[in-house]
Amino acid sequence: MRIHDDYSLLDNNTFGVDVKADYFMEYDNVEELKQLLDTDLLRERRFLNIGGGSNILFVNDFHGVALHSCIKGIEKLEEDEDKVTLRVGAGEIWDEFVQYCCDNSYGGAENLSGIPGSVGAVPIQNIGAYGAEVKSIIKQVECISASSGRAKTFSAEDCHFAYRDSIFKHRLKGKYIVTYVVFELKKSSWQPCTEYGSLSTEIKKYDKPTMQNIRLAVLDIRKRKLPEPKVLGNAGSFYTNPVIERTKYEKLKDQHPDMPCYEVSRNMVKVPAGWLIEQCGWKGRSVGKVAVHGSQALVLINKGGANGLDIINLSDQIRQSVRDKFGIDLKLEVNIVFG
Ligand code: EPU
Repeated sequence: MRIHDDYSLLDNNTFGVDVKADYFMEYDNVEELKQLLDTDLLRERRFLNIGGGSNILFVNDFHGVALHSCIKGIEKLEEDEDKVTLRVGAGEIWDEFVQYCCDNSYGGAENLSGIPGSVGAVPIQNIGAYGAEVKSIIKQVECISASSGRAKTFSAEDCHFAYRDSIFKHRLKGKYIVTYVVFELKKSSWQPCTEYGSLSTEIKKYDKPTMQNIRLAVLDIRKRKLPEPKVLGNAGSFYTNPVIERTKYEKLKDQHPDMPCYEVSRNMVKVPAGWLIEQCGWKGRSVGKVAVHGSQALVLINKGGANGLDIINLSDQIRQSVRDKFGIDLKLEVNIVFG
């Protein structure tokens, strides 16, 4: 384990906000995590578990302990002709794991290619893209209780996964630290999933929708639409796509005939937040050191040297205009952390 004080988090948040944590602790295995949880240093302070820092916005210096998992490893638990079960350390890089799955013809993760962050973070917000959600390949989530240091394994059902959501964002927020995620991936029964709008077009450039080709197609779309965090600080979608009542959607569609939607249930539909923001004239607009990305209005970017408040101020203006024009309240996807 490694313990640092007065630690710069600049390389630990993809927004590229220059803040510090009072302490930064890295652990390589579950035993080390338990030891850290038992130290006075940690017991007496607030803490935050930070993976790749790809879904977080620090408003100011973090006066507490930032805990960072370096638990590595991909262990095969079971395998037959049809499927394989893998136990993966929370500190593995998510996209390297997706690459590993595609290389070995283990199917189910390929549509989620290119998403920044660590494996331990993916169950928290049930990452999703191009017609897939990670919940469909998660079998179990292994955790350590932050208060007792005891291990607990959650089944996929226990996690209450929903669109960009899980129990770890609500009732159990901050209470458990993910140590391993157990995935079940398909082998012989794998079927490509390429119906999602832009992917269905992109995949036609390839002769067959193999796992590798789906990965390449997804990476290409992402490259065109989403900014590379190392070049332009960002945390992907800043908002979730709002789910609204179908009756409200139909009224809005009378005024805005091009308004897209995805089906959720008989009474509810999901509206792309990027579309709403673009309609309010924000796409590509800069305010000081921050901007709305020119290819995907759902993404706010740090053009260099912005702080958390600059980004929140822009976000507040965007949310106000969407409220004024459509009567819809945008909810943040990014976790805002106040010092
Ligand atoms: N759209 C616009 N203007 C924009 C952006 C989008 O009009 O600036 C419209 C598009 O034309 C399209 C619709 O919105 O009709 C959907 O766009 P897109 O396929 O880009 O997907 P999204 O709903 O905006 C979601 C995820 C992304 C994910 C993509 C692809 C959320 C909050 N975001 O965006 O996830 O990559 O679908 O599956 O659900 C992330 O979570 O960080 C992320 C980038």
